[in-house]
Amino acid sequence: MSEKLIIFDTTLRDGEQSPGASMTKDEKLRIAKALERLRVDVIEAGFPIASPDDFKGVQLVAENVRESTVCGLARATDKDIDAAAAALKPAVSSRIHTFIATSPIHMREKLHMEPDEVLKQAVSAVKRARQYTDNIEFSPEDAGRSEIDFLCRVIEAVIDAGATTVNIPDTVGYNLPHQFGGLIRQLIERVPNSDKAVFSVHCHNDLGLAVANSLSAVLNGARQVECTINGLGERAGNAALEEVVMTVRTRQDMFPCDTDLNTQEILHCSRLVSTITGFPVQPNKAIVGANAFAHESGIHQDGVLKSRETYEIMRAQDVGWHANRMVLGKHSGRNAFRTRLLELGYAFEREEDLNAAFSRFKDLADKKHEIYDEDLQALVSETIQEAADERIRLVAMKVCCETGEIPNAHVTLLIDGMERQGNSTGSGPVDATFRAIESIVHSGSDLQLYSVNNITTGTDAQGEVTVRIDKAGRIVNGQGSDTDIVIASAKAYINAINKIMEPVERAHPQV
Ligand code: KIV
Ligand code: ZN
Repeated sequence: MSEKLIIFDTTLRDGEQSPGASMTKDEKLRIAKALERLRVDVIEAGFPIASPDDFKGVQLVAENVRESTVCGLARATDKDIDAAAAALKPAVSSRIHTFIATSPIHMREKLHMEPDEVLKQAVSAVKRARQYTDNIEFSPEDAGRSEIDFLCRVIEAVIDAGATTVNIPDTVGYNLPHQFGGLIRQLIERVPNSDKAVFSVHCHNDLGLAVANSLSAVLNGARQVECTINGLGERAGNAALEEVVMTVRTRQDMFPCDTDLNTQEILHCSRLVSTITGFPVQPNKAIVGANAFAHESGIHQDGVLKSRETYEIMRAQDVGWHANRMVLGKHSGRNAFRTRLLELGYAFEREEDLNAAFSRFKDLADKKHEIYDEDLQALVSETIQEAADERIRLVAMKVCCETGEIPNAHVTLLIDGMERQGNSTGSGPVDATFRAIESIVHSGSDLQLYSVNNITTGTDAQGEVTVRIDKAGRIVNGQGSDTDIVIASAKAYINAINKIMEPVERAHPQV
């Protein structure tokens, strides 16, 4: 019998620490629900002390996720731990994850603390967290560059204090696979009470080794991997969940353990995270890239047609790839619409939101005839945006483009209930539209990224636009979709402006 490998997803915490990947609490909830359907064991929903918004984000996930354990991050201080416990209160199953750095460089330069003081603080943090829950994770930050004798002392002490998971982070992505695997083996062998806790790993990808290091650790006894969808995360990111999970599943001849994940949900999670954060997935990315299962060369195609195993080691369907399926059309009723949304994991609590989504669906079906799952997902995003009481809304727009003429846009917005109009020319229709919007809102932000993707195939497909804007160092993303990409662009820009207008002060856990 294979042992269980616990999957701890930190897309909503470490993933969100990636510059530009900030998410609203409603976006976090959507991702958390998708992770729950994927059946990840633990969802690290955020760092509650960072800001009131982060606190609410963790609380919202705790209130709504039933099947996965919800975790909150806390530095090794009473106020962090108390905030994490308060945010996690509504959860069916919760975990507090507390950490303090143990490497000489972090203790000396960042914490200005002696090793014994660090050990004392680690123990007292675990004891404090233990007052709230039995499910405690402790991480010695920068373990990958810590001295092994000191690490062994700290780990033994925190397990004695009540830590049930000990997570070994390679915080700066410095380790090599054989070295990191060896570290995990030695820790398990040398710490006298190591059998009382699950050993976990958390690897960063600075040298492109996060997945290899995580897998090496699993081969050496780790039974939890911390990872993120699409490998999102601080700097070069974390270990990619889809790669870790599919390697272990595909190479059961090598691994003594397996996950409980419903891998068919992987692609959906990947797309959702990519859309919400505006971080595109490269086409040649393993498992979830557009080319991951595409065979270009004639020899490969011939081989795959004769026998799939000649060139494919996994089945595309097992990670959620399927040809675009027409699911609904112009004549589909409200019931069919609601049922398909439920199958996709979306349940609108308020009847008026379902009605609003259904009326969008009818408008879209008039323009597009065949509606795919991907269209429904975009439609749900729009309905959620609308329900979020955004201050600025698009009422109408008119854009004129003609060969030899300068494009011109006229935009009408509703701002706090008041109609306002703006006009502008631009180098193209999108530029003119953004300038017209700016002439009304004066957001003072800079555009960092503009990207358009087709949601499905065909020229009648909806375009999905992501914009990233920056104002005084704060970066947010906005999304919009429509069969008209200039309208989709306006919606995305307005969505981003709504977010940037809400001032938020956030603490970074590791600085
Ligand atoms: O990379 C790291 O060390 C972390 C810890 C908070 C676990 O993210
Ligand atoms: Zn990290």
